[in-house]
Amino acid sequence: MAKAKVLLVFGTRPEAIKMCPLVKELQGRPDDFETVVCVTGQHREMLQQVLQAFDVVPDYDLDIMKAGQTLAGVTGDVLAKFSPVLEAEKPDYVLVHGDTTTAFAAGLAAFYMQIPVAHVEAGLRTWDMASPFPEEFNRQTIDLVAETYFAPTETARQHLLEEGKPADHIFVTGNTGIDALRTTVRDDFSNEWTDWAEGSRLVLVTAHRRENIGKPMENIFRALRRVVDENPDVKALYPIHMNPKVREIASEVLDGEDRIRIIEPMEVLEFHNMMNASHLILTDSGGIQEEAPSLGKPVLVARTTTERPEGIEAGTLRLVGTNEDSLFEALSSLLSDSAEYEAMAHAANPYGDGFASRRIADQLALSAKTAKK
Ligand code: UD1
Ligand code: UDP
Repeated sequence: MAKAKVLLVFGTRPEAIKMCPLVKELQGRPDDFETVVCVTGQHREMLQQVLQAFDVVPDYDLDIMKAGQTLAGVTGDVLAKFSPVLEAEKPDYVLVHGDTTTAFAAGLAAFYMQIPVAHVEAGLRTWDMASPFPEEFNRQTIDLVAETYFAPTETARQHLLEEGKPADHIFVTGNTGIDALRTTVRDDFSNEWTDWAEGSRLVLVTAHRRENIGKPMENIFRALRRVVDENPDVKALYPIHMNPKVREIASEVLDGEDRIRIIEPMEVLEFHNMMNASHLILTDSGGIQEEAPSLGKPVLVARTTTERPEGIEAGTLRLVGTNEDSLFEALSSLLSDSAEYEAMAHAANPYGDGFASRRIADQLALSAKTAKK
């Protein structure tokens, strides 16, 4: 039986959360796959947290993270350090995920060596190169060099077809992020922060997007602070990203309000359960837009565009931009209008049933057998 050598490469927290379930699936099928894991280390602590949570030990760690790293620096380092790994391993497939600079540069390195690239979470689009930046460029470029597309939704498949990608190379699988969520959320969960939030309505906050750093992020935090100041039964918890630029803005605007707590990034199991315990979520994250609908939590998306229209259609996400007054009004209205809240707070599952990794593995095994006949 033909066995496929699959090299998965990822570098940041969200890629790890969505690739580890796939690593586990492939490793669990040793007759079909030889599985190699390479992390670029674009993130360090935030990546380690996820690897530990899923008990994944990489075969390669390119360890590229630097304080204040630039897009050119990350791209150059991944190209330079990942190419020798490809040379040594000569995999049948390289699997990259989503839209990070790690995924773009690793996909490019594989393309240069004519190794087939399979793109997990292919076909997401805003068609706006400025938002999210540089992710829209990354995901479109990966789809130029990929030869297999694992699209999370039918909408993503349509985008790929519109761009002329061959239909028989596109597979709708659901999002592997939902696979992770299936194993983490427990109704009886409690920790220090669920205890702290007990008896209040909890707003869970994350913000890190590059294009929001500066005034837009300041606006997000100012609106949050005003809302917490005005509503004594509301608390906000913000597990903050490690980017020092984000930390500086958050501390300037949010320090001094006891009902707003900024804490270190949460381990993924804790964070998923914290989402489940929250009243609503305020975020500019991509992955959280996929997870929250499954949990029935309303999400205000502090961005001007989204590549996740399915959650908007499902009614659990609302795109609110980054203007302070609009954000303040959207938050206040969701907190005061119970009909509006109830209309958003229902579980919907536009991103799959939690078995995306299995579908991806099945398809890779099938393709490998066909190719090696
Ligand atoms: C990256 C991705 C973004 C993704 C986000 C998820 C790109 C261009 N951006 O953005 O698509 O949404 O990850 O969080 O690929 N840092 C640490 N420790 C860590 C992680 C980050 O100290 O574990 C600090 C470092 O100073 C680093 C900075 O954060 O230089 C920025 O990290 P970087 O990966 O460049 O950008 P993100 O905003 O995290
Ligand atoms: N997450 C986490 N701990 C946190 C904050 C977020 O584990 O403190 C998870 C979250 O559940 C989601 C992912 O990290 O799966 C989102 O990552 P991020 O917002 O950094 O990146 P994006 O999805 O925007 O690319």
